[in-house]
This record gives sequence, C-alpha cells and structure tokens, in this order.
Amino acid sequence: MKDVYILAIESSCDETSIAIVKNGNTVESFTVLTQMDTHANFGGVVPEIASRMHTENITMVLEETLQKSSIRIEEIDAIAVTYAPGLLGSLLVGIEFAKVLSLVYKKPLIAVNHTIGHIYANALENKLTFPLLALVVSGGHTDLILMEEDYNFKILGSTMDDAIGECFDKVARILGLKYPGGPNVEKLAKIGEPTYALPKPVNDSSYNFSFSGLKSHIINLVHNESQRGNEIRKADLACSFQVTAVNELTRKVEIALKNENVSQLIVAGGVAASGYLREEIKKVADKYQVPLSIPSMKYCTDNAAMIGAAAYPLFLQGKYADFSLNAKSNASIVSE
Ligand code: KG4
Ligand code: ZN
Repeated sequence: MKDVYILAIESSCDETSIAIVKNGNTVESFTVLTQMDTHANFGGVVPEIASRMHTENITMVLEETLQKSSIRIEEIDAIAVTYAPGLLGSLLVGIEFAKVLSLVYKKPLIAVNHTIGHIYANALENKLTFPLLALVVSGGHTDLILMEEDYNFKILGSTMDDAIGECFDKVARILGLKYPGGPNVEKLAKIGEPTYALPKPVNDSSYNFSFSGLKSHIINLVHNESQRGNEIRKADLACSFQVTAVNELTRKVEIALKNENVSQLIVAGGVAASGYLREEIKKVADKYQVPLSIPSMKYCTDNAAMIGAAAYPLFLQGKYADFSLNAKSNASIVSE
C-alpha cells in the first residue's frame, strides 16, 4: 500500500503545533510552539491571549514544519485537526486554518478528539497491541479505558470529581508554585519526603477515582497551619501528595490488570510526563508482565504528531469531516 501522509494541527490549549505523520506511526516533521511562559505570568492559561497567539503563530508553525519535511504540501493525503475538547477560541483557530488548507489543496479534512490523540501518541513509538488497557491522565481526564481495537473505547472507570492533573495544578497553587503546576510539584517533591499522613482517595475496588478529598485536605492543612503561624514543609507536602495521588492510579491499574486480560498497558495525557508516575506504573506492569508503553516526553505534552497518529485509522475508514466542522469544549471519546 502507498504511504499515507497526514498533516495534523493542534491548537486546543496553549501549544500551537503542526506535524506531518506517515502511516500513523512515523513523524516526518514536527513543530511545537508553546505559549507557556506568557501564561505563567497570569498563573494559568488566559483563553483570549491563547487564541490570539495561535492566530499570530500558526502560519509560521506550518512554514517551519514544511521546511523541515521532505514532503511537499501537495503530496499530503489529508489534513487533520483537533476539534475537541479544549478552549473554543483556540480550537477554532486550528479548525479554520485546517479548513482553508483542505479547501485550497483539495485534501480531505479529519476531525480528531484531543484525548484520543493522547492515547494514539503511543502509536508513534510502539505498536498498539489489542486488547489494551489505557490510563488517561490529564488536566481534564482520569480514565481507565479498555480498547479491543482501533477507536473502540470502553470506559472501565473515571474520576468522580477532579482530574488528577487539575489536582496537581491546585496543589501547586496552594503551595505557591508557578504555572504549570504538575511539573513544579514534581520538582519540589524530589527534595522532600512523604512525611505527611494524607487521606487515601477512595479505598474501594472499583475502577473509579476520586481526588477532591485529598485536594481539600491539603488546602485545609495549609490554611490551618498558616493561621496558627506554623511553617508548612512544602517539599514534604508536595512529595506526600504526589505519592498518595499516584498510588491511587497504580492501585486501580493493578486491579484492572488482575481482572482484565490485556496484551498491553499504555499511559496517555499530560500527567504521563510525571517521572514518578512513569517509575511507579512500570513496577506494576513488570509485576504482571504486561508490555508497557508511555510516550516520550515530547509526545506526552500537547502536540500535533499525536493528532496525526489518531487521524490515521479515521483516514483508513474514510471518516472525513465537512466544512460545517465546529469546535466543542467537551466531547466524550466513547461516541467517536
Ligand atoms: O494533557 P494535558 O497537556 O492537557 C490537558 O489536555 O488537560 O495535561 C496537562 C496536565 C496539567 O494538569 C499538568 O499539571 C499535568 O498535566 N502535568 C503533570 C506533570 N507534567 C504535566 N502532572 C504531574 N507531574 C508532571 N510532571
Ligand atoms: Zn492535552
């Protein structure tokens, strides 16, 4: 079969990224422009600034991606774009750009769900082997998903309240750490010890997660101690939080590996960049002798290469979008 080249666009949050991906698994060319430093000044992503910056930068990101590639835009087979979930204004910049490219170069348009993109980031470095168990951990998701085949998602369990990434970000804020919270909590935790006794999220054997009790406990602890004029051992608290939160993830993954017959364990989403989570999940995979795939760092954070990988099965099935494609702030992966 002839090689398939997909030009993929990602602009759902604060990264403007374009990639050319061959056959859903080989990155031909790849550019990411992050706005992180700008948003760090405001303590989080400012949607209006994010969409303006995408508009200013997206053409240059395309130019750079094409310059780095041996493939010309005329040789591309399809244009893929993230349409959900994310910030509406940011998503729309990518969508409109993709529609224009699709119209001008007469290429089919493919709409990709960002969360599914995180899952398919694994296909860029390892072959997906079904049935597989996916742990999806990001600012908006904490899900355990069973996949029998491409684009077949059965949600075994999800968070009942906060997503784990959101919890890392809130704990970072209460500890006075800068945005982005997760990596800064991890950095501080490295010089701490898990000496704070924190409540275990939910001590049950379901596949569901809960992090709001843990988060509230930390917020109350910091407030109470500061009212009493006591010092918080920030590094120890960051470390204790990280150990407790990640332990909840690995405990549920372990239950799933015991109960479900899977050929591979994959981890997806921004929190997969956590070095501590990577180490702990590896121990569980080794214990159950299940092959483990976690994307390398550059494919864990938001990027267009993963969108190109996720678009490939849709291309093979001829599942194209039309020019009525609109952005959605939320979208379930089960209905895709
Ligand atoms: O997938 P992602 O880029 O955005 C969403 O789609 O939500 O994930 C971002 C999340 C943020 O909550 C961020 O704090 C978290 O991933 N994160 C981390 C680490 N790096 C990023 N959380 C814990 N430890 C990290 N090293
Ligand atoms: Zn993401």
